[in-house]
Amino acid sequence: MSRETRKRSLWGTRFGFYLAAIGSAFGLGNLWRFPYVTVESGGGAFVLLYVFFAFAVGLPLLIGELMLGKLTRRSVISACQRLAVDEALSRAPRPKDVKGASEWVWFGRFSVVCCLLVLSYYAVISGWVLHFLMQFFVNQLQTGTFEVDQSLKILRENGLLQIALTSAHLLITLVIVVKGVQEGIEKWVGNVMPVFIVLLIILVTKSLSLPTATDAMRFMFYPDFSKLTVFSPLMAVGHVMFTLSLGLGTMVTFGSYLNERTRIPAAGFRVTTMDTVISLFAGLLIFPLLIGGGFTTTGPELLFQTLPRLLIDIDSGFLFGMAFFICLYLAALGASIGLLESVVANLLDFTKLSRAKAAWLTGTVATIIGVMPALSTSALKGVNFRGHGMLEILDAILIDALLPLSALGIAFLMARKLKRDTAEDEFINDESVATQTLYSHWFFVIKWLAPVLISGSILLAALGLVGLI
Ligand code: PHE
Repeated sequence: MSRETRKRSLWGTRFGFYLAAIGSAFGLGNLWRFPYVTVESGGGAFVLLYVFFAFAVGLPLLIGELMLGKLTRRSVISACQRLAVDEALSRAPRPKDVKGASEWVWFGRFSVVCCLLVLSYYAVISGWVLHFLMQFFVNQLQTGTFEVDQSLKILRENGLLQIALTSAHLLITLVIVVKGVQEGIEKWVGNVMPVFIVLLIILVTKSLSLPTATDAMRFMFYPDFSKLTVFSPLMAVGHVMFTLSLGLGTMVTFGSYLNERTRIPAAGFRVTTMDTVISLFAGLLIFPLLIGGGFTTTGPELLFQTLPRLLIDIDSGFLFGMAFFICLYLAALGASIGLLESVVANLLDFTKLSRAKAAWLTGTVATIIGVMPALSTSALKGVNFRGHGMLEILDAILIDALLPLSALGIAFLMARKLKRDTAEDEFINDESVATQTLYSHWFFVIKWLAPVLISGSILLAALGLVGLI
């Protein structure tokens, strides 16, 4: 099938888009990563930074990425190229200028490579969730209790098990993506999200009824700025990019399936708000448990060490535990589908591969890359930097460095190449006067505020890393 004749499917319903976009945003970033990054980066002051960056930088970038997809109807690589070439043609239709414009394709390529790397690393953690789900089941059947330390030990020491879990997760993701946009994504994500939210609310209520709840609230909402470090702003930026699925082309791909009538700024606002609220809920769930346990754990194992403690103590904890880990797994799956889908969509734009072949190719490469983080607590245990293992090093490189850089590139492209009236059309709604000024605010953020905040955070962290601050 040639590039021109390949028809793009659109979301069946507007609701379908929300479910998929929120489904992609909502995942391990909210439940697994947000709590431990908050503990490591300054508690309440970090939460404040995170919420600030989510709306000041994340939301405008999300709007930008969705718009890039919707306007070009392409995935990120060819969307970057299309935008730059169109702008060059409208200005100076000389072949030389147009050829130069094609170079913008590198911004897209960079984000697809990041996407593949994140997919691999994400698959390892999704494998952990799968392991806990199975352990929960087996432990309950055999002993009637849940052995947290034992479950973690099995995982930590067995690299092959982690590789097998990672591969199994990627295989499941692949099968769904091969089935295509609507049948695959909408159905899965749509069914799971509402159930998970109800479950989360029930568990948060239980957790907040613990005696440590007040301390947890203070930890989470009282900003003690002395706890921030030079790395905190960058960690907040990186986490915002990760949790809103930015900088990897995922939202560009989702935007390309949007139908004409969807108003992007409102859609972006809803997705950002939902995602942020869910992260805060995750904090409310985990922190009372963490404080109850005397803050003895942090790092990537935090969720897995604390949550079972609550589940063991409550009535029908076994059922809640199973349901929670099933939902968490499905949320991870929703996000993984978004990641795989955006690499596949780019391959479809550029090659003659079938959807199935593109998905298999991506899945295989991701499995191979995933071997490294999967071995981080066993064979590669010795690889360490300032006490952080391989998985955390990879996490920092990917999420705190590459993601912000990639998002910066896309913002740079949008600010320079997007035609004003085309972009304005996406913002202005004749019935609402307020939308007239919305565009100029957005444009200011994309062109100046977001780049300044992101580069400032990168610079601060870099100076901290080489010991100059
Ligand atoms: N946003 C997802 C999460 O919070 C992760 C993700 C990043 C998914 C980028 C798709 C693209 O877990």
